[in-house]
Amino acid sequence: MLKIGIFCASAGGNSLKIADKLADAFDVDEIISMEEDFDEVAQLLEYDILFIGSSTWGQGDVHHSWVDPLFEISLDDVDFSEKTVAFFGAGDSQKHGEHFCSALGKLYKVFTDAGAKPAGFMPKEEYSYDFSLAEIDDKFCGLAIDEHNESQKTDVRIERWIEQLKQELQS
Ligand SMILES: Cc1cc2nc3c(=O)[nH]c(=O)nc-3n(C[C@H](O)[C@H](O)[C@H](O)COP(=O)(O)O)c2cc1C
Repeated sequence: MLKIGIFCASAGGNSLKIADKLADAFDVDEIISMEEDFDEVAQLLEYDILFIGSSTWGQGDVHHSWVDPLFEISLDDVDFSEKTVAFFGAGDSQKHGEHFCSALGKLYKVFTDAGAKPAGFMPKEEYSYDFSLAEIDDKFCGLAIDEHNESQKTDVRIERWIEQLKQELQS
């Protein structure tokens, strides 16, 4: 049985909404809060499938609790080649449309450079923004939600993503 780990950094609880629904859908007992529960990169390596979440801060930055782990993964050449990873997070496409949910792109780069197989790409067309590092090959490299401007779309977006992940992870 493949082990699924959910690691989430969320300052105000928006990205956590996705993590909660993932935990329900995939029967995962615990969401690992990057601020409260995360001590070392070895924790990530305990799982076969990783759901990695962060809201976006500053100018397209990951939540501060991801900064050191990402640095360590890159610096120490940690091997994620046996892992499948899906990325998610909240942002603000209007006030911060110059870097909408760019944290997903930064997470994507570090984990895939470390060998991880990405899952859960989403169409970018339904969002309205100027730029995002989360755009990879003309898609979003994970699930972005915008609770400030499009909260009415959040539940459907999450449900659709979960259905897609279930199919992708089966194959
Ligand atoms: C100082 C500041 C900087 C932000 N920078 C960005 C950004 O670059 N891109 C983006 O999409 N959202 C940005 N946001 C919006 C947050 O990502 C958004 O409020 C999100 O819903 C927070 O999610 P959380 O509750 O999971 O932390 C910023 C918000 C603040 C207050």
